Amino acid sequence: MAESIKIKQQASKKEKYQSLLPQIKALISGETNIISKMANIAAALKETFDFFWVGFYLFEKDSLKVGPFQGPVACMKIKIGEGVCGKSFKDKKPIIVPDVNAFPGHIACNTNSKSEIVIPIFHNGSAIAVLDVDSDQLNDFDATDEQYLKAIVELIDKV
Ligand code: SME
Repeated sequence: MAESIKIKQQASKKEKYQSLLPQIKALISGETNIISKMANIAAALKETFDFFWVGFYLFEKDSLKVGPFQGPVACMKIKIGEGVCGKSFKDKKPIIVPDVNAFPGHIACNTNSKSEIVIPIFHNGSAIAVLDVDSDQLNDFDATDEQYLKAIVELIDKV
């Protein structure tokens, strides 16, 4: 079955997220494989916003391992507490980084990345993964991204 995402390119960021959210819900609804859901979420976000890098890191043993993503090749493994991803996972809180060079301990998988947002993902109250989005522009993420990316990743455990 053919699947597609339809987003008006002239729309504002908020409008794009509002249109995208139910489409992602429909796309992943009924799927039980978390990797399959993450793969299509990464693709849908890339297609809608053309983010420089968008993808997931999943908790395994004592670190985060790269999961489904769209963009240039990235770090395979991040220790808990390290980098933006490791800190967001450990603290169980989203982090917006307007300038990655000003974030102590930022892990530069790609030097073109300038700003970043990381959202932790939970299952039964435990953090199990993070969504990481990178931009090649400074200060590219705000509360709107946080609100809707959080709503999108919550679908992983809900639908
Ligand atoms: N910058 C991240 C590492 C992951 S890549 O950006 C894809 C961090 O500091 O955790």
